[in-house]
Amino acid sequence: MDLTWVEVSRSALEHNLKQFRAMAPRSLLAPVVKANAYGHGLLQSAIAFVEAGADWLCVNAIYEAQALRDGGLGVPIYVLGYVANEDMDLLCTLGCRLVVYNSESVRSLSAAAVRQGTVMPVHIKLETGNNRQGLKAAEAVELARLIRSLPGVELEGVSSHYADIEDTTDHSYAQHQLSRFHEACEALASAGMPPRVRNFSNSAAAILWSETQFDLVRIGISAYGMWPSKETFVSAVILGRDKPQLRPAMTWKTRVAQVKDIEPGEFVGYGRSFRTTHTTRLAVLPVGYYDGYDRALSNLAHVLVNGHIAPVRGRVCMNMIMVDVSDAGDVKPEDPVVLLGSDGRECVTAEQLAGWAGTINYEITTRICERIPRYLVD
Ligand SMILES: Cc1ncc(COP(=O)(O)O)c(C=O)c1O
Repeated sequence: MDLTWVEVSRSALEHNLKQFRAMAPRSLLAPVVKANAYGHGLLQSAIAFVEAGADWLCVNAIYEAQALRDGGLGVPIYVLGYVANEDMDLLCTLGCRLVVYNSESVRSLSAAAVRQGTVMPVHIKLETGNNRQGLKAAEAVELARLIRSLPGVELEGVSSHYADIEDTTDHSYAQHQLSRFHEACEALASAGMPPRVRNFSNSAAAILWSETQFDLVRIGISAYGMWPSKETFVSAVILGRDKPQLRPAMTWKTRVAQVKDIEPGEFVGYGRSFRTTHTTRLAVLPVGYYDGYDRALSNLAHVLVNGHIAPVRGRVCMNMIMVDVSDAGDVKPEDPVVLLGSDGRECVTAEQLAGWAGTINYEITTRICERIPRYLVD
């Protein structure tokens, strides 16, 4: 019996993707399934997206691409992270697009593609202001010339990534990045190498600015039904955008392992950080920070038991938490518990957990331990 598991709603994934199809009707839709599909389970989420009409899939690393191909997916896969030069043969075998920003990668890929008698599409990453991956316009033109001169590689597109679009309602920096992107595209076109598949948008950009959707949108967090941030939601209102109706796809569950009544004045857990003020019925749950239930949630979060709120008492342990089920009705060992998601009229969102833990919804879902089974439901 699973003691903790994640349920992922197939219909929610499909619904969210359709929201983006409606918002970006002229762009290829490329859900981002890196980081175990933002914690939702790589292969089953990817299959659900493809069945829902995704055109491409984005991953970070080659092992993720391999898992998708091993799982039988033949759709275009776009690798957004670094691939080691010695892994370029595998990349060719898997037939994936790669984002490139240095000549060594391009030369290694060209050599591997020639060995395998194939031609590999690449996307130059443009540095527009994030100072993560990428090349400035003049350097991008130089790399594009190298690509043109080498066998086995062809320039398919250009890519960039916003630095400050989710964290603010002031999008002047993002506008500045967009201007740099246009300048680089024009420089490539003037050099006779116009990029065909321009891609810049993440979820927030795709929601807020149709002018940045270009030829392909890389949708991560919102494909799983979460808003990138409060600021994105507020910006959509300020800009008068048709806000997508996003449906969170994830429910994270566990089961009660023990129920006990403890006296007033008793301490709960390590460090004695919680003390009861009245007789309290506690449930012990077999989930802790090893499983991805952040220790910062100690004494702050709540879970749902029988559709009732049950506050976390004491510190989150490595493999267990204790919750107050005094007001949760008749609770028995092995009763299911919702850690994230809804139960009846109550709900615990990734945003609430992120707020309590001092992080972002992205981190809450991606850090749920990969060992925990994921099941596609409905
Ligand atoms: C290069 C790149 N594109 C797209 C995304 C998707 O972003 P979001 O989850 O905000 O939609 C990410 C996420 O980290 C990314 O790194």
